[in-house]
Amino acid sequence: MVSNNFPKGTEVDLKIPMVPDMELAAAKTAEAMAEYAHFSDDEIEEIKMAIIETCINAFEHSESMDRNVYITFHVDKKKMVVQIMDKGKGFVKKDVETPDIAKKIHAEYKRGWGMQLIESLMDEVDIQSGDDGTVVSLTKFI
Ligand SMILES: Nc1ncnc2c1ncn2[C@@H]1O[C@H](COP(=O)(O)OP(=O)(O)O)[C@@H](O)[C@H]1O
Ligand SMILES: [Mg+2]
Repeated sequence: MVSNNFPKGTEVDLKIPMVPDMELAAAKTAEAMAEYAHFSDDEIEEIKMAIIETCINAFEHSESMDRNVYITFHVDKKKMVVQIMDKGKGFVKKDVETPDIAKKIHAEYKRGWGMQLIESLMDEVDIQSGDDGTVVSLTKFI
C-alpha cells in the first residue's frame, strides 16, 4: 500500500455558489488533495469528473434556495471521501431511471448519464437525500 503524509482525518471544507464553472473550484481542491495523497493521474481525473458531475447535478436539479453547494474533502492513508451537499428539494434514487443506450438513441431526453458515470468513476457512491437536501458521498480508495 502506498502511504501519504496526511495526518489522520485531514479535511478541507469548501462552499461554492451555484454559478457556472464554480464546480471547477471543487475539482481543483480535490486535485490538490489527491496529488498529495499520491493518487495516480488517472484516479485524480476520475475523482474530478465525478465531483464536477455531482456539483452540476446540485446546480441544475436541487432547486436549492440558498444556491450554495457545501463540500467536504477528506483524505486519510486509505481513501479520499468527498461529500457534496445541497439544501435543495432532494430526490429518490430508485426513481431515477437507469439509462439504456438503445433506448436513449430514440428518446427525446438524451441526458441522464451523470449518475451512471459517477458510479463507474468512484469506488463507492452513497446518496442521502430528503426534503431538506442531498448529500452525495464519493469514495475512492488509494
Ligand atoms: N442534487 C440533486 N438534487 C435533486 N435531484 C438530483 C440531484 N442530483 C441528481 N438528481 C436527480 O437525478 C437525476 C439523474 O441525474 P443524472 O444521471 O446526472 O442525469 P441528468 O443530470 O442528465 O438529468 C436528475 O435528473 C435529477 O432528477
Ligand atoms: Mg447530471
